[in-house]
Amino acid sequence: MLFESSRVRLRKMTEEDTELYHRWRNDIEVMQSTNPSLDVYSIEATKEFVDTVILNSPHSKSYIIMDKDNEIPIGIVSLINMDYKNRNAECIIDIGEKEYWGQGYGSEGLKLLIDFAFYEMNLHRVSLKVFSFNDRAIRLYNRIGFQEEGKSRQSLFRNGDWHDIHMGLLQKEYFETQIKTT
Ligand SMILES: CC(C)(COP(=O)(O)OP(=O)(O)OC[C@H]1O[C@@H](n2cnc3c(N)ncnc32)[C@H](O)[C@@H]1OP(=O)(O)O)[C@@H](O)C(=O)NCCC(=O)NCCS
Repeated sequence: MLFESSRVRLRKMTEEDTELYHRWRNDIEVMQSTNPSLDVYSIEATKEFVDTVILNSPHSKSYIIMDKDNEIPIGIVSLINMDYKNRNAECIIDIGEKEYWGQGYGSEGLKLLIDFAFYEMNLHRVSLKVFSFNDRAIRLYNRIGFQEEGKSRQSLFRNGDWHDIHMGLLQKEYFETQIKTT
């Protein structure tokens, strides 16, 4: 079902989610695997980012991942840098509630977003950026069908070493592997 699978539901992100998103965004453990600059944000900076980039940009769509059983917001998935001419976008996923990590919620949430991107938005290609040490995320992306397309070599300096990877998935490939969430 669109925006809903067995355990999660995607709902549109709103301004009321700003403080929750700020907590996730400022969590150093989450930042380690998502944030190239690894700096903490002020609430003002988050509010501005949410206002301009997340909520009011024609080039992005963000959804809160809800745990359906408990009606708890657990993370966020987004399509960003949407390019309507070439039908390309980039995707992002963060499960901000860390006790939900490693139980398949991320896979469910991302599959819903990718189903929407390919079956409804009719995008041609979705890409993403993942740090090369983020094994759990890379396994997830591989399961969904993303392929490594190339590396931005040594573009991230983290914990004394250099990392980065880019991945991409074509609509045709996704339809062929058929991991559609019903
Ligand atoms: C990366 C991230 C999105 C992955 O989401 P997740 O829910 O933790 O991970 P998955 O959905 O892949 O599930 C993890 C494990 O649960 C298992 N699993 C799958 N379905 C399951 C289910 N129904 N019940 C229990 N376990 C399940 C999977 O086998 C998987 O194991 P594996 O990773 O050893 O293959 C999440 O950990 C996260 O947000 N991390 C911090 C931010 C981040 O790194 N974001 C990505 C930046 S590129």
